[in-house]
Amino acid sequence: MAMSEAAPDVPVCGPAFVTERRLVPWIGTSWKMNKTRTEARQYTEALTRTLNATPVSAAVWLLPPFTALGAVCEAARGSSLRVGAQDMHWADDGPYTGEVSALNIKECGAQLVELGHFERRQAFGETDEVVNKKVCCALAHGLAPLICIGETAMQRDYSVAREVVAYQVKVALHGVDPARLPDITIAYEPGWAIGKDGTEAAPVAVNAMHRLIRDVISSKYGTTISEQVYIVYGGSVTQDNAMSFANQTEVDGLFVGRAALEVDSFAAIIKEFSQARSRSTSSSHRDHGDDVPRRAPQLIRPSPQT
Ligand code: PGA
Repeated sequence: MAMSEAAPDVPVCGPAFVTERRLVPWIGTSWKMNKTRTEARQYTEALTRTLNATPVSAAVWLLPPFTALGAVCEAARGSSLRVGAQDMHWADDGPYTGEVSALNIKECGAQLVELGHFERRQAFGETDEVVNKKVCCALAHGLAPLICIGETAMQRDYSVAREVVAYQVKVALHGVDPARLPDITIAYEPGWAIGKDGTEAAPVAVNAMHRLIRDVISSKYGTTISEQVYIVYGGSVTQDNAMSFANQTEVDGLFVGRAALEVDSFAAIIKEFSQARSRSTSSSHRDHGDDVPRRAPQLIRPSPQT
């Protein structure tokens, strides 16, 4: 058993876009404990067909349950879809019954790993220190961490949400090499907005929290690096409200739960958000007198699945 040290030369296939975050939103879903391997494969094939038929300016990722990870990676091969796990242990191997390591995840062909989801923090007692160990381990193995951050309803009601979110970001990124920051995505997901009992968050308030997260990153790593980090929003995102986040300048994409369990609904969210984003981006370019259309940036690091 060994805990991994960060190894900056391991390639990661995270967001790491070349130029402007706003041009290519980063949109994904975790199916949580839903879908069998067969269902997951069928979903992936259907989504690939849909996105091939109507190309979108968005980078899309899927986080299936562990048992379906290999099948989804296989079904996504040759497409632009990225695939990740919903959690992992911070050790490479050892006496951790039921746990899954970065090596297991990599072997399936996955590129991302979600860490610190609210449900893992609440139901399984995951702490910020544990999230940090997992972040370092993921980077050391070339997996792009998707770090979930967010306050509880109680913390919101006691007006300490900003302090909690800043603390979570600082601890999650403790010891992370600045060069690795563009491989990291932060998902802001307030606990009170997640799940069937969640309440929708106001887009303006989400934008303000994303700005805070970026400011925390900036104070530690500088503005240039902080501007390269994708910060996505999750919590009761639906086809009806997805577009309302698209013109928020700090919202770089969406992390969708229930509303992405059906392919059609997820595909509609991806399409509507990315189209609304392109419209708001091109009008802001016009507002600034920039009439040269900008091309969407390519990914720096090609997906190993292509
Ligand atoms: P939800 O889940 O969209 O079903 O609220 C979001 C999440 O937990 O990431």
